[in-house]
Amino acid sequence: MSDRFVEVTAPSNIAIIKYWGKRCVDLNLPLNSSLSATLCQDHLKSTTKISTSPRLTDDELLLNGCKQSIPQNSRIQKCLSQIRSAARMQGIRQGNSSLDDIKVASQKMKISSTNNFPTAAGLASSASGYAALVFGMGKLLSVKGDLTPIARQGSGSACRSLHGGFVKWQMGKEEDGSDSTGYQIAPETHWEELRIFVIVVNDMRKKVGSTAGMQLTVETSTLLKHRVEHVVEGRMKTACDAIKNKDFPTLADVIMRESNQLHAVCLDTNPPLRYLNDVSFMIMDMVHSYNTAVGSLQAAYTFDAGPNACLFTTKSRANEIAWLIRNLFPTDSSDSDFFRGMSVTMSAPKTSVMQMIDLNAYSSNMIKYVICTKVGDGPRLVSCNDTRLLSCNDTRGDAAD
Ligand code: PMV
Repeated sequence: MSDRFVEVTAPSNIAIIKYWGKRCVDLNLPLNSSLSATLCQDHLKSTTKISTSPRLTDDELLLNGCKQSIPQNSRIQKCLSQIRSAARMQGIRQGNSSLDDIKVASQKMKISSTNNFPTAAGLASSASGYAALVFGMGKLLSVKGDLTPIARQGSGSACRSLHGGFVKWQMGKEEDGSDSTGYQIAPETHWEELRIFVIVVNDMRKKVGSTAGMQLTVETSTLLKHRVEHVVEGRMKTACDAIKNKDFPTLADVIMRESNQLHAVCLDTNPPLRYLNDVSFMIMDMVHSYNTAVGSLQAAYTFDAGPNACLFTTKSRANEIAWLIRNLFPTDSSDSDFFRGMSVTMSAPKTSVMQMIDLNAYSSNMIKYVICTKVGDGPRLVSCNDTRLLSCNDTRGDAAD
């Protein structure tokens, strides 16, 4: 039995309908369904290399080059043990032909994962990281079928990063979480005019992680109860329809309201959780001021558990948004260092629009850099040392509706 090796990449995602609150911490089951756009991994990705060999004596994990303790990380342990048992079960079902896979499933693994964007700063690095881990292990052990319930146990939002395009994480009803899965509602090719600016305000690690934050919210916020019971379902339908119909103003409205409600719920937590900072509010003001000046919603902001913004807009408006960011948030960086990712040309809005926007610039270097990107595809197998792994079925499951 030879050693096996895979290298995979997985994308980050940004939530349009936010997940905040668990109904079961142990199985990582959410209080509500959520919806996200997968970000193009040409610009934001986790790269994970996994090797397995009979000579390894322990599972090993390196994150951005630093050794992590697996025994102290119950989520990683869950992902490892569940993928191994899925491989064994599948092997047993298939009989002798997969004896090798069963043996490989009991070998230790060496995992090395890197992100090409700030880790734990509200840019869903745990989503891309766990998606890459689970997708990579699935490939390594030739596991077929839907891996989103396993990825979900690493980080809830990771189940959405196992698909490209627009992805719904259905909360499910079953107590064992078997129907709490992620599936694609529209592929990345569906709405190619969409553009996303990831505005990196602060790449420090966040103070309160999302799991601890969510639990505190569940225990103390009355607004969360209202949101889950009366708000999310309607917004989910509006957002899915807006995506289907490529109706940007409607989608923009839901995106901003969802972001604002997430942070309102955080503030309704006791003691309050504060993920946004002054620069986040400046970015919100810029977007509202632009939308008012152009007379319709042509840009939308959204923030996860951190101060960095994701701005949604369309190709036809992207150059004006880039111009606004650059002019309202002066920086010592060159244009090429400031705007990363997809190439973007800045163009000033027309005079009538400019006259309606407060163009007083904020102080310098409030924004570190901006990653220009779009909606992208799901995880990719970059390389492996066994051609049989290349042909193993897709592990991302089918769309549920
Ligand atoms: O997947 P987690 O546990 O990192 O939580 C993600 C929470 C938010 O990013 C704030 C919202 C979301 O739906 O991604």
